[in-house]
Amino acid sequence: MDVYTAIASKRDERRYADRPLPDDLVTRILDAGRLAGSSRNLQDWEFVVVSDRDALAEAVYAPDNVRTAALAVAIVCPRALDTGRAAQNMMLAAWGDGIVSCPNGVRDAEAAERIVGATPAIVLSFGYPAKPRDPASRTAEEWSQRANRKPLEEVVRRV
Ligand SMILES: Cc1cc2nc3c(=O)[nH]c(=O)nc-3n(C[C@H](O)[C@H](O)[C@H](O)COP(=O)(O)O)c2cc1C
Repeated sequence: MDVYTAIASKRDERRYADRPLPDDLVTRILDAGRLAGSSRNLQDWEFVVVSDRDALAEAVYAPDNVRTAALAVAIVCPRALDTGRAAQNMMLAAWGDGIVSCPNGVRDAEAAERIVGATPAIVLSFGYPAKPRDPASRTAEEWSQRANRKPLEEVVRRV
């Protein structure tokens, strides 16, 4: 899958198959986060793999996303843009391997900190999809048109 097709066909998915992810693919996902560029290349982040997903689930807005995921990664990072770059890298790398994902906002920062050891900026849930979706079933342009997004004219301004 080419990069644009990966971007266009990526959706945030919340229903995961009850199937573990191979260790090498988990490593690739984490490495994709590591490879993200960051402000002044500070890499001021930690990607915390949380094994007690049931406990972490209670700290996010959508507990089922984390409870049913095969992998939960809490990103600890003080910079929003750096967090976003690492998060999207991880989610797109995962999608390239057929693994779906969703960002999860933290509802209870104190509870999350007790589990993670620091307050996460975001928690990513990953898993094989409960309902598989083939990115090759449509062109990138078709995926783009179907995306629930504002039209380009509404978000692009030229000055
Ligand atoms: C910062 C951030 C926080 C989010 N928090 C949640 C969340 O707590 N629960 C959830 O189900 N989805 C969450 N999402 C996912 C958004 O709902 C999703 O990106 C948006 O609806 C677009 O989904 P789509 O790519 O499937 O069209 C979050 C996304 C971002 C960027």
